[in-house]
Amino acid sequence: MPASKGPITALRGNGEYDWAAFEPESYFEHYYADPHPDDDDLTRLAAATLMHAAPDGDGLNIIDIGTGPSLIPFMCAAPRAASLTCWEFSQANVSWLREELSRSETRPQWLHFWSSVRAVYQGKKQLPADPGPLLQAKCEFAQRSIFDLPERRWDAATMFFCAESITEKRPEFEAACASFAKCVKPGGTLAAAFLVRSSGYTVGQRRYPAIDLCASAIEDVFCGLTASAEVQQIGAAEHEVRSGYTGALFLRAQSR
Ligand SMILES: C[S@@+](CC[C@H](N)C(=O)[O-])C[C@H]1O[C@@H](n2cnc3c(N)ncnc32)[C@H](O)[C@@H]1O
Repeated sequence: MPASKGPITALRGNGEYDWAAFEPESYFEHYYADPHPDDDDLTRLAAATLMHAAPDGDGLNIIDIGTGPSLIPFMCAAPRAASLTCWEFSQANVSWLREELSRSETRPQWLHFWSSVRAVYQGKKQLPADPGPLLQAKCEFAQRSIFDLPERRWDAATMFFCAESITEKRPEFEAACASFAKCVKPGGTLAAAFLVRSSGYTVGQRRYPAIDLCASAIEDVFCGLTASAEVQQIGAAEHEVRSGYTGALFLRAQSR
């Protein structure tokens, strides 16, 4: 029998992490206080994807899953949305988002990303300088799990750093991707960002999980779930830029 190379640790699933203890303000400070060019790219790509989402008009019902302490997906979707649903498991993050949207002035970091959204829509839509009132009017909150999403309910869905950042278990990651892909109507638009080559991230003092992914892994999963899927690499850092972050993958897909 070969000598043991050390303890084998069991992979931990979504239910084994304390999401209620997630610290939204620490997360915001770490990832968004100083806007990163990769997030600018993701914002532009998601806004452009949603700008072309079917059906025409501004009456789309759009969901974001695992919203966490970020307004980026809502800002990308708001110009086309009749309603924006936040589907987030952590009560701490839902409370933080509600407070964030009730601020009288939108934080400069969000205004930075909003300027990218406005640039994408330039010439097509007059958008206000501050997205706050638009988001306040359209956002609704569901403190729910990705695994409980109803099928074929929304016109479009976004998901930034959720399915791969909530579990270490590959089948659970794939189930989360399937829930995301199936929550939109046939022909609906999907826009998502995934961590690449990550082994987890730290928020405050707590460690959270990630699945180690490459572009072909995302393509394989979504080709089996959607009518069409396209994956694009964002950033190409050799080392961690921020905890758990060495670059991202952007997915644009159409539901079948
Ligand atoms: C890495 S954070 C991503 C936050 C944000 N979307 C972003 O782009 O920075 C992962 C998010 O998934 C949420 N989450 C964890 N388990 C979940 C579940 N079962 N269903 C939905 N969201 C979940 C966490 O609370 C957290 O907000």
